[in-house]
Amino acid sequence: MKIIHTVAELRAELASHPSAPAFVPTMGNLHEGHLALIAQARQLVAGSGSPVVASIFVNRLQFGPNEDFDTYPRTLERDAKLLQEAGCDILFAPSEAELYPQPQGYKVVPPTELADILEGAFRPGFFTGVCTVVHKLFNLVQPRIGVFGKKDYQQLMIIRNMVAQMGLPIAIQGGETLRADDGLALSSRNGYLSAPERAEAVQMITALRAVKEQVNGARSAGGLNQARVAEIERQAVAALDARGWKTDYVMVRRQRDLLPATDAELAQGEPLVSLAASRLGKTRLIDNLEL
Ligand code: PAF
Repeated sequence: MKIIHTVAELRAELASHPSAPAFVPTMGNLHEGHLALIAQARQLVAGSGSPVVASIFVNRLQFGPNEDFDTYPRTLERDAKLLQEAGCDILFAPSEAELYPQPQGYKVVPPTELADILEGAFRPGFFTGVCTVVHKLFNLVQPRIGVFGKKDYQQLMIIRNMVAQMGLPIAIQGGETLRADDGLALSSRNGYLSAPERAEAVQMITALRAVKEQVNGARSAGGLNQARVAEIERQAVAALDARGWKTDYVMVRRQRDLLPATDAELAQGEPLVSLAASRLGKTRLIDNLEL
């Protein structure tokens, strides 16, 4: 695996490959979930001559002023070893000065109805930061395939939407969420949890499974509507908060655009997803479950 820190070296390296890469952007501090995305990218390009490129860049633009930009773990040496073992061909790990040589005044601002709900409502500007860096990385890496985890469900949807609206020739693939044995979704931020918090953290997926059961139960009984969904959401928030969590949201939304389903859609087969974000001590966790 080539480890590359500059745009010039990246361009030279990519020019030596016969076809455009598959690309997995990350912020490092990698876990099995990221490595599964690399394996998925590897499979998608098998036999084509396309390399697999990963990036590691902790993107200041997507962190709020009181968020964990400064303390986000930077573990480049360990990450590089894991990427190599997972079959990555090129690791692009630019410095901030390399990726943002001037303050990034031009931004990619996603539409408010997609980006100011759920995560965007609690992390203002987050998706502008994500879209700006991902668009820039797409310009530099020029991939034909981009692989993003479904753990960040709203991010995946917004990236798909950005690529479609901007006419970028990139096929966006979603990777399934990997979970620990107890069901906790793998995340770099799980490393912030104390041992008792780690044991408690499983309650987030437990809450989402309860939402799934209740939504599907009400649907089969013919009683699913917006009022019932609101009640199920409220119960899930209350169940977490009663255990000491500070919940931002638990919501049931349409899979396709994360907007609320109408009564008619709820009664019929509209594909739904339940999404949650909650704080356990100082650690904010997110997860989701397709219903
Ligand atoms: O999902 C992430 O790790 C980040 O949001 C991404 C896509 C690498 C952009 O910084």
